[in-house]
Amino acid sequence: MNSLLGPNIGRGDTVFISTYGCQMNEHDTERMYSLLENHNFIQASHAEDADVIIINSCSVREKPVHKVMSEIGTYRPLKQKKPKLKIGVAGCVGQQEGKQLLKKNPLIDFVLGTGAIDILPDILHQVRDERKRSAWTQIDHRGPYSINTLIRNPRVSSFVNITLGCDNFCSFCIVPFTRGREKSRPFSELLGDVRQLVGRGVKEVTLLGQNVNSYKSPDGSGGFPDLLRAVCAETDIQRVRYTTSHPKDFNNEVLNVMIKYQNKLGDFLHLPAQSGSSKILESMNRGYTREEYLEKVQAVKAANGEMALSTDIIVGFPGETEEDFDQTLSLLAEIKYENVYAFKYSPRPFTKALKLSDPVPEEVKDRRLQKLIEFQDSLAPEICAKYEGRVLDVLVEGPSRTNSKVLTGRTTHNKVVNFLGASDLVGKILPLKIKHAAPFALKGEVIA
Ligand code: SAH
Ligand code: SF4
Ligand code: F3S
Repeated sequence: MNSLLGPNIGRGDTVFISTYGCQMNEHDTERMYSLLENHNFIQASHAEDADVIIINSCSVREKPVHKVMSEIGTYRPLKQKKPKLKIGVAGCVGQQEGKQLLKKNPLIDFVLGTGAIDILPDILHQVRDERKRSAWTQIDHRGPYSINTLIRNPRVSSFVNITLGCDNFCSFCIVPFTRGREKSRPFSELLGDVRQLVGRGVKEVTLLGQNVNSYKSPDGSGGFPDLLRAVCAETDIQRVRYTTSHPKDFNNEVLNVMIKYQNKLGDFLHLPAQSGSSKILESMNRGYTREEYLEKVQAVKAANGEMALSTDIIVGFPGETEEDFDQTLSLLAEIKYENVYAFKYSPRPFTKALKLSDPVPEEVKDRRLQKLIEFQDSLAPEICAKYEGRVLDVLVEGPSRTNSKVLTGRTTHNKVVNFLGASDLVGKILPLKIKHAAPFALKGEVIA
């Protein structure tokens, strides 16, 4: 992945990347740092210390451009103090807005689309040494998607991209426009990546894609169930997770692999319903009804009674009546999700939903969101109470963010467990006694 300009493009310059958005973006930020370090750039811990600042932005919801612009505004004094400082916008806002950003804000020196990450060292060379002020936002919709997973210091748990882009065009979603057509990485490349990560001490991989179920190896060696099976059976990785699984494509074949390799795939599934109303689901172009969704969930629970589910929900989609909203609440009551990620509908450029009539007023969206959060909060204590008193296998990830004396890890249900323990437990799978269960984290104890 070295640039034609050689490994010393960076000449020791420092780079700070500010990251918003999904796991894909977090993973892209690590890829950027990795590529840059290979070209003799150095990661800066703070924006104040950087020669280059990159904002890796997200545009999936509310006022994304505004967020980027206000962050850039805070860098104005830095730019005045250090005229050589270069500021770039990457990620989905970069892709969506392209060179408009350069017109809107003179503080921005370059724009990096989602397809340009791998040429970032060359871009920085052009921006810094050739004083080019430009937007690199070409997306190659057709070419192959073949990369190496680049992670500098892999932790216990690592991400691996399996697909890029999305072809589903849910009517609310900007991702198909900011990440392009869906492409899958070759099967053998992915297995090689997982094995290499295992060799570097990784215990868990999360396979990432906007819609992992539609993974299809370009060399014809299989689809998502085949990939899952191979990662479980043919590598020494201890745990495997994946996100996101689209309900319309989640089928018995995937479920059978989940059951057969439960020892690695665990007892967790993120299956974003978005709404409990079939009318709204149709208008969202999701490709399933409430009943079909429920049938799939019932099949999952029947096959594995331990299965913990989580979902994404959008409230206030155009045309959503109180009745439709009540159906979403009743879906939550029926399924009893462990986690619900709820969002107010936010109109996005290019999407079909922009043209729908009957928008839901902002105050109604606010009220519904609040009501949904309170409703889930009322269900949550009972949902998690079942873990109390049990002994659960926990993969220990490291010290907790808030207290360095406390270790944190996750159960096979993807529940976070905090407990007191020595640092040599990191990376181990350990049976812990659950002393207390709260919705977002369990408290555990090492068994003597
Ligand atoms: N393919 C991914 C989607 C990533 S976007 C997935 O299925 O999880 C993550 C979530 O953001 C979506 O599931 C949806 O709940 C929410 N979202 C996407 N577009 C939105 C919009 N315009 N307004 C509000 N929420 C949105
Ligand atoms: Fe991720 Fe979507 Fe946000 Fe892009 S727009 S960063 S793909 S959540
Ligand atoms: Fe977006 Fe739907 Fe694809 S939510 S990323 S269009 S699966």
